[in-house]
Amino acid sequence: MSNLVRISMSLDNSLMLAFDAYVRAERYPSRSEAIKSLMRQCLAEQAWEHNQLVAGSVTLVYDHHRQGVVKRLTDVQHDFGEVIVSTQHVHLDHHHCLETVVVKGKAAPIREMVTIFKSIKGVKQTSLVMTSIGKGLA
Ligand code: NI
Repeated sequence: MSNLVRISMSLDNSLMLAFDAYVRAERYPSRSEAIKSLMRQCLAEQAWEHNQLVAGSVTLVYDHHRQGVVKRLTDVQHDFGEVIVSTQHVHLDHHHCLETVVVKGKAAPIREMVTIFKSIKGVKQTSLVMTSIGKGLA
């Protein structure tokens, strides 16, 4: 037995035309795929807003010559070890490092960790990608 459901909806023609242009521009294979993708994004954002279980990644760029920055970043990652799945470090150039921290857990401590990352002197960029843990996203 299939779990597939069909829905129909009424909407203004201009909204449909604008959405179809979006579907083409983003190269979705169909309206259905575009709508499903947006629904998943919406549900992931809600999970992050309501401190539910979430997943994602944090990307940091920092100057490793800045005094104390490496130790501070390491200390913070140990403090939030329960939400960190993995960390990847890349040496960008003589001064800069890029670190990607994959996270999974409650949204609140992850957001707190990101806020602390941003406050560390020497950290030049911090970017959080908010996704879901995958449940209910068929
Ligand atoms: Ni490095």
